[in-house]
Amino acid sequence: MRTRLVPWIILAIVFTLVTGFLVFTEEARSQSLSEYVASGLAQKPDNSMCLSCHQREGMTWPLPSGEILSLTIDPKQYDQAVHARLSCQVCHTNLTGFPHPENKAQDRRDYTLQYQTTCNQCHPNQAKELADSVHTKLFQEGNRNAPICADCHNPHTQMPIQKTAEGLPAPSEHARIAQTCATCHAAIYDEYLNSVHGSGIIENRNPDVPACTDCHGVHRITDPRTAAFRLSSPQLCAKCHTDERIMSKYGLSTQVLNTYVADFHGTTVVLFEKTDPDQETNKPVCYDCHGVHDIQRVDDPEKGIAIKENLLKTCQRCHPDATTNFPDSWLGHYIPSPERHPLVYYVNLFYKFFIPTVLGGMAIFVISDIYYRLWGRRRRQRGGGAPIPASPSPESAESKIEDESVVAKGPTDQETMSGTESLRSEDDGPVAEDDTQEIAPHDSNPEE
Ligand code: HEC
Ligand code: HEC
Ligand code: HEC
Ligand code: HEC
Ligand code: HEC
Ligand code: HEC
Ligand code: HEC
Ligand code: HEC
Ligand code: HEC
Repeated sequence: MRTRLVPWIILAIVFTLVTGFLVFTEEARSQSLSEYVASGLAQKPDNSMCLSCHQREGMTWPLPSGEILSLTIDPKQYDQAVHARLSCQVCHTNLTGFPHPENKAQDRRDYTLQYQTTCNQCHPNQAKELADSVHTKLFQEGNRNAPICADCHNPHTQMPIQKTAEGLPAPSEHARIAQTCATCHAAIYDEYLNSVHGSGIIENRNPDVPACTDCHGVHRITDPRTAAFRLSSPQLCAKCHTDERIMSKYGLSTQVLNTYVADFHGTTVVLFEKTDPDQETNKPVCYDCHGVHDIQRVDDPEKGIAIKENLLKTCQRCHPDATTNFPDSWLGHYIPSPERHPLVYYVNLFYKFFIPTVLGGMAIFVISDIYYRLWGRRRRQRGGGAPIPASPSPESAESKIEDESVVAKGPTDQETMSGTESLRSEDDGPVAEDDTQEIAPHDSNPEE
């Protein structure tokens, strides 16, 4: 019996060990970064063998393209950077000692692209986001200059990234971010540096102005030339420009979104965004008037669009026949007030009262007219009392004095109004004067 069990026991032990090992390695792979750091795996590694050569200054490697790759790694910098606890071979998996296996890279770009997936094992979230970005799309379409991780993060010198409570890059990172993007988007960077948003970022480290990543996203950068991006862009600007807390510091209006939405251009854009986000629109969004990376203060004496000639130029892009006074048709972001656009303000005000008064008056007139007609008919059908003069108009006041004229003027069926009836109406004078008060008691009578 016992001897028969032995192979089973051995098999069970082996099975446990194997599955245990598999589970362990699987876990190790899916370990989050913090666990990785906390676990013994992140003991400070001994990189001195590699560094014994690679800390030498001026160490270079010429590539077949003629470009020269610097091979010097500064150990002090490496020690302070985020990957200080990683051994060189974690990323340089093919290099164990010297001599190194031959590297087939033809040029500098070729070389960097060898590390395209190196980071993914430990930073799966960023890898996923980057995979969805316009950069990766462009790369897959054949643009080998579209960035991979190592283009934006030097793996040997990357310092810890300061973040806000929401996990976004803190304002202290903004300048560095702009410089990162600038390595490939230099022209945009220059425009941005001279804009109202960008100048604050470098000079004063202003935390309120947007960095490249506030408008484009960090890793999942979307294509800004799509209809969907364009249609949703007013919300992008509005995020800050309707925030009273931020804008009050600069004395800027927070009405810019609702005044935009209310105008003939914005209404369509907002409608499209809700119903059909991929619909192209030819109506202007914020940046058609203000610019994109070169936004200036509106009262900038040279480029500001509060100056009519400058604004006219923006209108003319879509309204080529526009002349000097054309921009006046756009009221700007200000809600009309006695100080700004007084004419529009008073016309609006006039209509605000005029329209309800006219419509309300009409409604009262029509309702009372219908009422008196019905009531009069019922009374007649019962052979009962006489109808009351129908006109609620001021003339009815005169009816007390000139009953004949009431008969002539009353808009009700004139045949029913005999002389006696109109005499009665004299007794009912107050009813004619203020019909609304008297309607209720009279109304209940016929129902009883
Ligand atoms: C004896 C000196 C020496 C040692 C030790 C050494 N390297 Fe190198 N390394 C070189 C030289 C020289 C080159 C230039 C290319 C070549 O000759 O292969 C180089 C090239 C490289 C390159 C760029 C080319 C490529 O193949 O990617 C990397 C990366 C690199 N070394 C990393 C390492 C790492 C990691 C270690 C430690 C495991 C290491 N090196 C150890 C001398 C050394
Ligand atoms: C987190 C991953 C990672 C670690 C850890 C790492 N490297 Fe690198 N290394 C890279 C990547 C990615 C590149 C390619 C960068 C590029 O093309 O600009 C690179 C490039 C290099 C190069 C080529 C020259 C250069 O700067 O492009 C050398 C030399 C090198 N590494 C040495 C080392 C040594 C020595 C260590 C350990 C002290 C080390 N690396 C640790 C990822 C890493
Ligand atoms: C186009 C440039 C760019 C590329 C490509 C890129 N990053 Fe980033 N990454 C940034 C910027 C910008 C930040 C924000 C903070 C900073 O750099 O100051 C950031 C932040 C991070 C952070 C901090 C946490 C976070 O999500 O904000 C990590 C980790 C990171 N990147 C890893 C990666 C990895 C891994 C890849 C490749 C899969 C990658 N990045 C590709 C630009 C880039
Ligand atoms: C073996 C795992 C590993 C690999 C591979 C790796 N990293 Fe890291 N990375 C780490 C650890 C651990 C940290 C430190 C995390 C922390 O401090 O929370 C880190 C931090 C970072 C940070 C700073 C994040 C922050 O919030 O401060 C960036 C950026 C980054 N890595 C980029 C890269 C890039 C780019 C590559 C590929 C070239 C790469 N990493 C490869 C483990 C790795
Ligand atoms: C390594 C170079 C590189 C870096 C760094 C880089 N980009 Fe790009 N980016 C490109 C290339 C190449 C394209 C393709 C279009 C072109 O050639 O301009 C592109 C395209 C874009 C596009 C889409 C434009 C289009 O044509 O559809 C946006 C948006 C963009 N980048 C934003 C950024 C931002 C924001 C950063 C910084 C976080 C950044 N890029 C960093 C190389 C880079
Ligand atoms: C205030 C928001 C905002 C900021 C900040 C911003 N962008 Fe843009 N960016 C946009 C908008 C909106 C578009 C789309 C413009 C269009 O369709 O004409 C755009 C377009 C782009 C494009 C593609 C079109 C082109 O002009 O080539 C790139 C690349 C780009 N931005 C890079 C950057 C970089 C790099 C920075 C930082 C230096 C930056 N952006 C800062 C809003 C912004
Ligand atoms: C991250 C927040 C933020 C975002 C997003 C943002 N802005 Fe701004 N914007 C500011 C701040 C803060 C100022 C004031 C800067 C200053 O005066 O130094 C400003 C200033 C301006 C000004 C100048 C006003 C004046 O006359 O002084 C205009 C115009 C403007 N933004 C338009 C836009 C447009 C259009 C967008 C969208 C494409 C946008 N902003 C996106 C924060 C933002
Ligand atoms: C991006 C293009 C674009 C810009 C810039 C633009 N508009 Fe328009 N605008 C339109 C379109 C499209 C219509 C709708 C035309 C239609 O329905 O016939 C329109 C309609 C109008 C109308 C309504 C009357 C009409 O002709 O239908 C006025 C008024 C107007 N715009 C004024 C302005 C002013 C003022 C500016 C400059 C501050 C301006 N627009 C800038 C595209 C633009
Ligand atoms: C049709 C062109 C046009 C559009 C579209 C437009 N603006 Fe303006 N904006 C102007 C003009 C002109 C001024 C200066 C005169 C004024 O304030 O009315 C201005 C002023 C501003 C100011 C300065 C306000 C202040 O208090 O001085 C900000 C901020 C601003 N706009 C942001 C936006 C945002 C955000 C959007 C999109 C939601 C937008 N604008 C859409 C033309 C436009």
